[in-house]
Amino acid sequence: MEYQTLLFEIKDGIALITINRPDKLNALNDQVMAELADVAQRLATDDVIRGAILTGAGPKAFVAGADIGDLAKQGPFDGKARALRGQAVLRRLETCGKPVIAAVNGFALGGGCELAMACHLRIASENAKFGQPELKLGIAPGYGGTQRLPRLVGKGVALQLILTGETIDAREAHRIGLVNKVVPSAELLAAAEQLLRAILAMGPLAVRLALEAVDQGLEMSLDEGLLLEANHFGLLAATRDMKEGLGAFLEKRAPKFEGR
Ligand code: COA
Repeated sequence: MEYQTLLFEIKDGIALITINRPDKLNALNDQVMAELADVAQRLATDDVIRGAILTGAGPKAFVAGADIGDLAKQGPFDGKARALRGQAVLRRLETCGKPVIAAVNGFALGGGCELAMACHLRIASENAKFGQPELKLGIAPGYGGTQRLPRLVGKGVALQLILTGETIDAREAHRIGLVNKVVPSAELLAAAEQLLRAILAMGPLAVRLALEAVDQGLEMSLDEGLLLEANHFGLLAATRDMKEGLGAFLEKRAPKFEGR
């Protein structure tokens, strides 16, 4: 698929995805969502890609939300279909099996905040701003905000953000656990890459199973989640990577993982 609204490049195993509608603050129209769906599938299936960084073009915005022009035209059935489509795209990204980092370089509002939350980690520049302002528009979050935000920051803070529609800055987002790290704007992409490379230096099968255990475990009872964890622990013992990782430690050398 040729992308009209995304920039996409792969460098040393890292896919850099840039939402590229800076004149509309990278708002998520149907075209962006269709292209993001293609990207999410590529991340999941292309072995050349080992992890990804998602960001927005221009100095002002990561993503300023779903495209309000599109939303203004929708009726109840296509509205629901749009929400389901968007939710599926973000879920595919979240379950692609490889680490995805959001590099949030400005406004991350509505669908932008939801997109960032579907990534596994979030690094924000000092000028980043977060919020779920949908209620102010007479709509409600539709790309997972009511579900992922309380899972990330707790029910009380999530309801505060959703019910007030307030915009918070990067420091506050960090304080409540919405973002993992805040860095100066000029260092954002380098910091995201450094973090991702550190993850990619570890056993990729172990990374994949850790992502899966945390994702699935949150929906399970503690006993079910612990069993899933133990099953993964056992499964990893059948991999060459585990032998390499433990052997390298015992031999006081750096491991060389193959993902097998
Ligand atoms: N959907 C469609 N277009 C959007 C958009 C969105 N979510 N957010 C911004 N834009 C467009 C604006 O319409 C404007 O386009 P124009 O130049 O053709 O008029 C352009 O992006 C720049 O935005 P502007 O509002 O002029 O920038 P600003 O710096 O004054 O304000 C925001 C920035 C983010 C505060 C403001 O754009 C805003 O409130 N956006 C909507 C946020 C929102 O409610 N998101 C949730 C949607 S569900």
